[in-house]
Amino acid sequence: MKTTPVTHVIQLGYGKVGGPLVHLVVENRARIERETGVHLEYAAVVRSSSVALGDDLALRAADRGASFDEWTPRAPGMSIAVLDPVFDRFGFPDRTQYALIDVTATAETGPLLLEALGMGIPVVTANKIPLAETPGWFEQARMASQQARTPFRYECTVGASLPVISTLVDLMTTGDTVQRIVALPSSSLSCILGGFNRGFPLDAAIADAMRRGFAEPNPLTDLAGRDALRKIVILAKTMGLSTSIGDVNQEPLLDQDYPDFEAFQGDGMARLADRLTAARQPERVTYYVGSASADGDVTLGLRSFPKASIWGTLEPSENLFLFSTSRFGDLPVVVRGIGGGPILTASGVLADVIKAARAQN
Ligand SMILES: NC(=O)c1ccc[n+]([C@@H]2O[C@H](COP(=O)([O-])OP(=O)(O)OC[C@H]3O[C@@H](n4cnc5c(N)ncnc54)[C@H](OP(=O)(O)O)[C@@H]3O)[C@@H](O)[C@H]2O)c1
Repeated sequence: MKTTPVTHVIQLGYGKVGGPLVHLVVENRARIERETGVHLEYAAVVRSSSVALGDDLALRAADRGASFDEWTPRAPGMSIAVLDPVFDRFGFPDRTQYALIDVTATAETGPLLLEALGMGIPVVTANKIPLAETPGWFEQARMASQQARTPFRYECTVGASLPVISTLVDLMTTGDTVQRIVALPSSSLSCILGGFNRGFPLDAAIADAMRRGFAEPNPLTDLAGRDALRKIVILAKTMGLSTSIGDVNQEPLLDQDYPDFEAFQGDGMARLADRLTAARQPERVTYYVGSASADGDVTLGLRSFPKASIWGTLEPSENLFLFSTSRFGDLPVVVRGIGGGPILTASGVLADVIKAARAQN
């Protein structure tokens, strides 16, 4: 009988997504192996300054969280040397199968992910920052993945576990021409503007998004549109455009920088409410929408759509992605649904890990 090779999982980050991810892997291990032939075991969970080595420790860390007393200090920096204790214990990548997961929210992991790809270690990431913010990083990762024939999967950077990147990649690799993507990629702005479209005052719509866990603790981060900007850049790059973050023609939602949410409340909130009210039109809804066109035009800003279109059917927080292609003609391919949340994101990361490991078996 053929024995299943073990894929040793190295996970960077142990926060809102990383914690549940460990549980998902362990709880579904037998089913994953039975149905896909992939056997996942943790080699390490790496945090900003500590590490837990081994499957047993990963599970105990997931049960006992950040207070877990067996986190040991790790080497500083973010080069491949951080993984030396892992390679010492489980073997070098030429004889041991690994998958490297990035569920941090930092640019620091970028060089390590590139080195890993170059060494033939598959990389799965939910961390948008290197892809969208580090000049040239995405292109280098794609090239390293192609040259070393090593999976590089980043589905959860856009729309969390919704099949956004895979749909786009499948359209392109089968020879369709993607002419345009129109996207509502931010769950928090979908929640805030969806509430406003339904007639809630802006402050109540923001408070509702915060209460339901869709907004950041500081909702200015959402209103500044950085998350949506990163996602539209990742979509544009996946389309093959050379767009960098500074190339996006972004119409900001906020009229100025505010030091904190308190400073925005009052006059800033009133000015944004006035602006959104002025953008309101009868029988239409307004959202903060990104678009990327094959001619290289990438935009982000307020757009209004008929209530009688798909846009008028969105629930607050829902994401929407429309892919216009040559083959699909006048009717775009539609992906919609909840595009965030720790458990959904962790499940999307796990699906990517299984696909990456399967490609290695
Ligand atoms: N939450 C969602 O709904 C969602 C949806 C889609 C995508 N994502 C993306 O998923 C990623 C994780 O999100 P999250 O909400 O879990 O973030 P989080 O709660 O802030 O956790 C971040 C984790 O990264 C670790 N970290 C920071 N710098 C590190 C480094 N240099 N090396 C190793 N670990 C490091 C932190 O370590 P310490 O524990 O030591 O602080 C922490 O465990 C983000 O990129 C986010 O944008 C999240």
